[in-house]
Parts: sequence; C-alpha cells; structure tokens
Amino acid sequence: MGKPHAIMVPFPMQGHIIPLMELAQCLAKHGIRVTFVNTEINHDRIQALSGKEVLNDRICLVSVPDGLESRERYIPGKLMETVYEIMPGNIEELIQEINASNEDKITCVIYDQCLARIQEVAEKLGVGSAAFCAAAAALLVLGFNIPRLIEDGIIDNEGSPLSNNNNIVQFNPTMPIISPSDFVWNRSKISALQKLVFNIMKQNNKFMKSANWLICNSVHDLEPGAFAVATNITPIGPLLSTNRPGNLPDHIHEPDSDCLKWLDQQPPCSVIYIAFGSTTIFNKNQFQELAMGIEQSNRSFLWVVRPDSDKDFPDGYSDRVTTRGRIVGWAPQQRVLSHSSIACFISHCGWNSTLESVSSGVPMLCWPYFADQFINRSYICDSWKIGLTVDEDENGIVKFDEIKAKIDRLFEEDVFKERTLCLKEMISSSASEGGDSYKNLSSFISWIRG
Ligand code: UDX
Repeated sequence: MGKPHAIMVPFPMQGHIIPLMELAQCLAKHGIRVTFVNTEINHDRIQALSGKEVLNDRICLVSVPDGLESRERYIPGKLMETVYEIMPGNIEELIQEINASNEDKITCVIYDQCLARIQEVAEKLGVGSAAFCAAAAALLVLGFNIPRLIEDGIIDNEGSPLSNNNNIVQFNPTMPIISPSDFVWNRSKISALQKLVFNIMKQNNKFMKSANWLICNSVHDLEPGAFAVATNITPIGPLLSTNRPGNLPDHIHEPDSDCLKWLDQQPPCSVIYIAFGSTTIFNKNQFQELAMGIEQSNRSFLWVVRPDSDKDFPDGYSDRVTTRGRIVGWAPQQRVLSHSSIACFISHCGWNSTLESVSSGVPMLCWPYFADQFINRSYICDSWKIGLTVDEDENGIVKFDEIKAKIDRLFEEDVFKERTLCLKEMISSSASEGGDSYKNLSSFISWIRG
C-alpha cells in the first residue's frame, strides 16, 4: 500500500496560496506526500522564483489552466467565476492521471473553501476531503447565516441590505460588528460581482457540509465567538513561515530582501510598515494623500508599492524622504513584521496580514478595501482593540492629516502595543506543543495519515 498523498488546491491568489503552501510544508514534514496545484500563470511565476519543479521528495508543484483568455484577466470577477466552474474538472482529471501512474494514490483533497465544488470530486472518487479557509472563521459564520439574514429581513434574496434598515449585525458578543453594506459580497462596486460572490458563498455552504474537515487559518482564542457558533470549524493557525528555515516558493512576486538590512540599522519600534496585500490599488488622489500623510508623520517608513500600481508620488517626494524611507515593490512581509524596528503597520487588513501583524506584536492602522477586510478591521479595532481605523472625509477620501494623526496615536498610546503583545503571546501558546491549534493540526495530520 502507498503512502498518504494529499492534493492541495488554493484559490489562485497570493493571499490564498501562501497559507495553504505553509500547510503543505507541515504535512510534508509529517511524511505526507503532497501534490500542490496552481494555475499555470501562478505556477510559472513561482517556478521562476524557486527554480525547481519538485521542492523536495514530498511536495510536487503542478499546474492546471485557469480557463481564461488574456483579455478576460482584466474583467472583475471573471477569474473567480471561471475557476469555480472548471477547477473541479481539472482536479478530477489530475487525480486520475496521478492515480494511474503513481504508487502513492491520492488519499485526500484539501481545497480552498472558495472552490468548494471540488467536494463533489472527492465524493465521486471516494477520497477524504478538507475545505480550507484562508480567511477568518467569522467569514464562514457570515456565509452560514445567509438564510437567517434573509429571513430576518436584513438582506434581500440577492444579498443587498434592505433599504429600510440600518442594522448592525453581530452573531456573538465577541464577534465583529458589521453593517450589511460591509458584508463581503456587498463590498464590491460592481453589482455582477456582488451577485457572483453571494451565490458562490451560498453554494459553498452546501458543499462544505459534506467535507470531512473544515479547517481554518485562525486561532481559537482570537475568535472564540465564531468557533462557539460554528463548532464544525477547526482552527489550525496561524500558518506562518517566520520560524521555519528555508525559502518558501509560495510568492508570485520577488521579495526585496535588502530592506531587512536597512531595518537592521533602525532603532527599535521606530519604523512604520505600509503594505496593502497582493491586489489592492489606490486611485491617484488617495495615493498622494497617503504619501503626504507618511511624509508629514516625520517618521521612518518601509512602504510596499507593487509594480502593478500607479506610482503617483507628489513632486520631489523621493528626494525629500530618501533619508528616512524605503519604497519596495514586494517585501518579505513576515520577516519585516517580526523585525524589532517595526512600530506599526498600515494595512488593508487582509487576513494573512492581520495574523502576521498580531503574531509579531505589531499594532495596526486599518484601511480596509474590499471583501473580508471590513470584518477583520472590526476584530482589530472593536474586539481586540489593537489598532485604529482611518476615517474618510465627506468625499470618500482619507486625508493626509487624518493619516498622520492616527499614526501619531499608535506611536504615543502604549496600550495598543501592550494589547498586541498579549495576543501575540496567546497565539504563540496556541501553536506550541499542547496548545489548541497544535492539537487540532496534529489530529488533522493523523487523520490524513490514516
Ligand atoms: C486576500 C484577501 O484580501 C484576504 O483578506 C483574504 O483573507 C486572503 O486573500 P490579500 O489581499 O493579498 O489576500 O491580503 P493578505 O491576506 O494580507 O495576504 C497578503 C500576503 O502577501 C501576506 O501573507 C503577506 O505577508 C504577503 N505580502 C504582502 C508579502 O509577502 N509582501 C508584500 O510586500 C505584501
């Protein structure tokens, strides 16, 4: 009989690939063979950075098409819609190919919960299954509650907030406080995308019910309310690479490691780190306000401005900030956040960024942009109280003086740092031997090993 062999399928976005790849490394360390499936575009980028086809004798990176024509890549929602449709077929074919030519046949499928239709393939082929959530458990709880939200008249059948209410929703006293207009699907300016996300979330609920496991990159004590109302979710996080030697080939951009040397020269807790994940892009006005806010703060900073964003710096900006600032295209974020020079993090509140910041004891200035980032902001500001949020003016712009004022508060009010350090401690014990996440991950691994 062959070894246990997991096929792992992330949603094709950086923020989803990183934590699942981290889980792949954990499984491999425990003797489980892994076939990790990326879309061709992401696979090629990762290969170009890692330069290897097979990572070690246990993890094999493979690729499948994403089904898009080049021009379709710029249509919002097209990637999500297409991979949702075609990924189950791709994965079924791939499993059959692997099983036909391999002694270690596939024994389980671990898929991103955004692609939960893959559950049907696991059932058809009679292999074990686990749905993986790269976001907070609160996001899943929101999805599970869609029927109740409709029944209670909070949203209509298409997910839109009912105009006659100003409801604020909280499923449990320790969970995020969210307004229906901030529900994941409503945080897109394009109505076709709203409907798509809403419908996919509804369908995914049904598929995930049949999975053997629903695992989440979270920690019980960070979200006790969410795990109390949805006992079927198992937290196994935080999945971080900071403490593991070796370079993970999970990035589709090349990190600029020189910035770490620059950080080494900065005093402790003196630098603002600014990064907005892998997809968020500011418009010109907002970018300039951010640039000015950072400049006016008069503090050192490390700012990630991705090559795919419009770099509309104010005139003469780089000359003025050159002695105290570094601007890079992509940073080794986990290592940056755990560097002693970092004082605070201006972030879009992606869940990975949130976990990485909390795990490093770094308070946050929240600037959510889309999807689950508004839920995460509520955790950061309302539940954990480890950060502040920026407020828009009447024209929907966050002005430079607002940014500067909030940065000043994070530097001057020690309470944010103190609370973040408590959470850091809690997360670290959960992931250490005997902690909740450690035990959950061990049970999951034992299940795969059979
Ligand atoms: C998206 C969603 O926004 C997020 O909320 C969801 O939970 C996962 O998918 P993204 O927007 O990219 O992800 O944000 P985030 O979840 O924060 O993930 C970004 C990842 O890229 C983090 O792991 C971060 O460490 C990494 N990163 C980002 C870098 O390594 N370098 C950078 O310069 C910027």
